[in-house]
Parts: sequence; structure tokens; C-alpha cells
Amino acid sequence: MRFDGKVAILTGGTSGIGLATAQLFVEEGASVVLMARNPTRGRDAVEQITSADGQAIFVQGDVSVAADCQHCVTVAIETYGRLDILFNNAGVIYVNRNLVDTSEEEWDATLNSNLKSIFWMSKYAIPHIAKNGGSIINNASIFGLVGGGGVAAYCAAKGGVINLTRAMAIDHATQKIRVNCVCPGSVDTPLLENEMNDLGGVEVQFPKFASRHPMNRIAAPEEIARAVAYLASDDASFVTGVALPVDGGRSAW
Ligand SMILES: NC(=O)c1ccc[n+]([C@@H]2O[C@H](COP(=O)([O-])OP(=O)(O)OC[C@H]3O[C@@H](n4cnc5c(N)ncnc54)[C@H](O)[C@@H]3O)[C@@H](O)[C@H]2O)c1
Repeated sequence: MRFDGKVAILTGGTSGIGLATAQLFVEEGASVVLMARNPTRGRDAVEQITSADGQAIFVQGDVSVAADCQHCVTVAIETYGRLDILFNNAGVIYVNRNLVDTSEEEWDATLNSNLKSIFWMSKYAIPHIAKNGGSIINNASIFGLVGGGGVAAYCAAKGGVINLTRAMAIDHATQKIRVNCVCPGSVDTPLLENEMNDLGGVEVQFPKFASRHPMNRIAAPEEIARAVAYLASDDASFVTGVALPVDGGRSAW
């Protein structure tokens, strides 16, 4: 049990990669705080975890709002008394938008929920994680490592996530906080389904997306969760500042 007695906050923890990671953390002994906007999904996710005897709470909030991020950290500490792991996972993507076609609102929403959110959550969480040491994992994307067509703001945000990860790793290493990010390829989640629908439908797009990976398939959220759990655990005790592709070889092309 790698996370016995540990407390983790996961943003966007009620869906997709975030939920799969929360479930894995709990299976390995952690208590989790799921932060997201939709209370119905929050209730369902907590019920799934607690009905299997896990410890979980939901905190409603928007990661692009400073007060919501501060509130989430406060509730985590009031509930569990400590904080060890932060998974900055929440994110959105607007597809079919080159820079010219991106509105200011879409640009701001993309940068705020994928990148500025990490600033807010980490700013409030780090003083608590520093008490015992711990781990922060940011969810970037292969679109932080390579460019992609029609996702300009998302590429800007995810590139920022990767270099912010490196800067945080350097700044907080002596506080015994390791900071890393994962760079997933395509993962079978509601976010990807929306993206495929925007591009003409899942049936047509699924094989196309799969074929962009040398392994010729799309990942299950659990495959990303296992990489996050590795980075969060003592198995990665000398690993900090890395951007780990979990992409079926896509970034190797
Ligand atoms: N699915 C993929 O193919 C893929 C690939 C690379 C990276 N990612 C990244 O993985 C992360 C998780 O995405 P997912 O695929 O699991 O999608 P998802 O839609 O299943 O989950 C995203 C979660 O983030 C939440 N969220 C978004 N904006 C928020 C905000 N402002 N405040 C609070 N919560 C917010 C959503 O409500 C949702 O719960 C994202 O950062 C995404 O960019 C996904």
C-alpha cells in the first residue's frame, strides 16, 4: 500500500483520468479530496469510492478561481489534517481553433483552467505539503511536447505546464516536494469524446486518433493513473522535474 495514511487532492477528480487516479490512490491507502464543478458527478464519484470502503470527499469549485482553490485546500486540511499529494489534473480543450479563430474568452478559459489553475492550487497547497514533504503531479499532454493542428491555446497552456513543472521542481526540492508531469496521448475520456464529436463523430475519429500512436490504440484512463501513482509514490523518490510521456509512443515519432 504505497499511499497508506496519505492525503491527496485531485482536481477534475470526478471524471476520466482524475477519477481513475483517485480510485487507484484509494486502493493503495490514500484519502482523497475530489475538486470539480459538477456536484452530481462529485456525489457519484464519492459514493463509488466510499461504497468500496475508501475515504473520499468532494469539494465543489472552479480551478480557475483563486478563492475556490484556497477553499479546497482549507477543507482538505480541516477534514484530514494533512496534505501529501496534489494532482493538478483539471483541464479543457477547444478544438478546431487556430490562433485566428480562437476568441479571447476561449484563450482565457483554456489558459486559466489548464495552467493558471496549477498556480492557484499549488500556491495554497505547497505550504501544507512542505510540512511532511510530498509530491505534485501536473497533467500536461503530448501537446505540451509537440504541436497539434487546431488546438493553439491548448498547446500554449500545456507547454506552459511542462516548464512550470520544471521550475516548481527546482524551487521546492529542498522542501522535499517532488514535482513532475505526465504527458498523455489520446485517452478514452469524456474530454476526448467531445473532441471527436467536434471533429465529426466518435466512430470516424476513434480509429484516426488511434492510428496516430505507434501502438495503434487509445489509452484507458487507468493507464495514465498508474503513471501518476508511480510519480506520486516513493517508487519515484529521486524523480523530479520530468515530463513523462504516457502516449503509446506518439511523441517518439
Ligand atoms: N483525454 C485525453 O485524450 C487527454 C490527453 C492528454 C491530456 N489530457 C489532460 O488530462 C486532464 C484530464 O482530462 P480527461 O481527459 O480526464 O477529461 P475529463 O473531461 O473526463 O475530465 C476533466 C475534469 O476536469 C474538470 N474541469 C475542467 N475545467 C475545470 C475547472 N475550471 N474547474 C474545475 N474542474 C474543471 C472537468 O469538469 C472534469 O471533471 C486534462 O488536463 C486534459 O487536458 C487528456
